[in-house]
Order: sequence, then structure tokens, then C-alpha cells
Amino acid sequence: MSFWVSGQQLAVWRKQARQVAIAQEISPDEVDWLLQIWTDVDKLSLRLGSFESRSQIPIPQSWSVLNERWQTRLTENCPIQYLAGLSPWRDFVLKVSPAVLIPRPETELIIDWLSQEKAINPQLSQGNWVDLGTGSGAIALGLALCFPEARIFAVDTSLDALAIAQENAQSYGLGDRIEFLHGSWWTPLAHCQGQIQGMISNPPYIPSSMIAGLQPEVTQHEPHLALDGGEDGLVAIRHLVETAPDYLVAGGLWLVEIMAGQAPWVAELLENQGQYQGIQLLKDLAGIERFVVAYRI
Ligand SMILES: C[S@@+](CC[C@H](N)C(=O)[O-])C[C@H]1O[C@@H](n2cnc3c(N)ncnc32)[C@H](O)[C@@H]1O
Repeated sequence: MSFWVSGQQLAVWRKQARQVAIAQEISPDEVDWLLQIWTDVDKLSLRLGSFESRSQIPIPQSWSVLNERWQTRLTENCPIQYLAGLSPWRDFVLKVSPAVLIPRPETELIIDWLSQEKAINPQLSQGNWVDLGTGSGAIALGLALCFPEARIFAVDTSLDALAIAQENAQSYGLGDRIEFLHGSWWTPLAHCQGQIQGMISNPPYIPSSMIAGLQPEVTQHEPHLALDGGEDGLVAIRHLVETAPDYLVAGGLWLVEIMAGQAPWVAELLENQGQYQGIQLLKDLAGIERFVVAYRI
């Protein structure tokens, strides 16, 4: 069955939805973002209003179903990426569901940094790379494009997340470049000790006591498995510091995304572990120390 709305109907709905959004301190851009996902109307046409004269605009579901989803945004604080089932990340539009964290723009910087780093350190382009805690698969897909010669492993303890990551890889023709493995951190990679060129992880790093105070969109809808980093937020990171040296090749790279304020603690953990060198703190675009990098001695 095909569904459509008239340009006039859409214009009236858009105007009202934007007004309600503003009244609830939600960005009205969210309304336009959803309309661009649900219809073939582009940003320019929305801005100029040129879509209003169209008699039939195709939509994926009945208008009442789509409007209900928007109401969920307003009444239940559901992030629009979950309503749309999609999230843009770098050049990808990734499938997402409440089983996976919505991939964040700051995480994109990991791939930018690696692209620069491989130019000065060509050794990085070969061998095995791993994305531990892959979620939607965003980082693993980025790694596959950044290192076309490398073999990529993507691990998650959530089977639902792995299914989504796999779908995302397949939809970009990267299904046979990435091996998806179920288990906790390095466990499914026991056969790869001493063979990993680079380990990337955006692990859960928020202290348990802070989770309830996050934005409702996050606390009420994103998977706590992706957020909760234990009492001090560092449980997973500490584990990755301790275990990675057994898996990395000499000169292999360790890169983890962290929360604001954690950088000195993570640098100290790496220093004390004794098998890392070249520890660096990298900032995000807001100037926050967001990533820690080190190399296996
Ligand atoms: C912060 S999310 C990151 C998701 C994705 N890499 C990204 O950057 O958008 C953390 C991910 O780690 C996974 N995770 C949590 N505990 C894990 C464990 N013990 N072993 C493997 N993955 C785990 C979660 O399921 C979640 O997908």
C-alpha cells in the first residue's frame, strides 16, 4: 500500500510541529530532519516552501502513524534518531534502534585522527583492527574505509546491537570486511593474542550515579549497557588498559573515547601499567580531552 500527503497538509503540520517544539525547548530543526527522512522533500525546498504546491508527497507510513511517532518525541522524550530508525554518522546513514547508542559526532573525530596518523605511521594500515563495544558498528565501518587493507573485528556483548551493526556493514558493502563477534571485550578474540594492530573503543564510561541525571532522551531511551561505566566510570577502561597489551603487536595503537575529566586518570592507568608509551590526550571540537591514545611498547 502506498501513502502520501499533500504539500498543503505537510506545510500546516510542519508549522504547528515547529511551534510546539519551540514551546517545549526542542530544536525546530528536529521537525525538518524528520521530514527529510520521511519524505523526498529536501532542506532547500523546506526553507523555500516550494513543496507546498505539490499535490502528492509519498510517505513511508500513514500520516497518522508518523504523527504518532512525533508525539512520542514530545511526550516521552524519545530521540528522533530512534523514531526514524536512522542516524547520520560521517558519510553513513546508520540504522539504529534502542538496542544501540546513537553514534555521536565527537566519535567521528577518531576516524579523522586515524586518517592523519596513518600518513605518518604506515605500519597502521596493515593487519588487524578491533572495535570493542561496536554498538551500531559506526567505528568499525569507519575503520574499514580508513584502512582498506586491514581486517576489522567488531565485538559487542549485546546480540541485538551486533545484528544492527552487521546490517549497517552489509548495507554499505562492508559485510565481508568486518567480522562481528559476540562476547565481552577481548574474550571472542582469544585466538588473536599479539596480532592486533589497533584497538579502538568507545566503552561505557559514565559513573553509575550520574546516569539518572543525564538528559531524559539519554537516560530513558539509550541502552544503559552502553552508558554505565560502574562506580567511577572507569571499570571498562581499566579492563582495556590491563588486557590490551596481550593482544596488541609491538607499536600497536590503543585509543579510547572518554568523558570530560577522565583524561588524567586514564593517562595514569596507562603509565602505571608499564607496557605503553607515547601517551597522548586528544581534544574534541569543544576543546574537551575526549580521547586517550597510547602505543604498545
Ligand atoms: C558507548 S557504546 C559505543 C557504541 C559505538 N561504538 C559508538 O561509538 O557509537 C558502548 C558499547 O559497548 C558495549 N558493551 C558494554 N559492555 C561490553 C562488554 N563487556 N563487552 C563488549 N561490549 C560491551 C555496549 O553494548 C555498547 O554497544
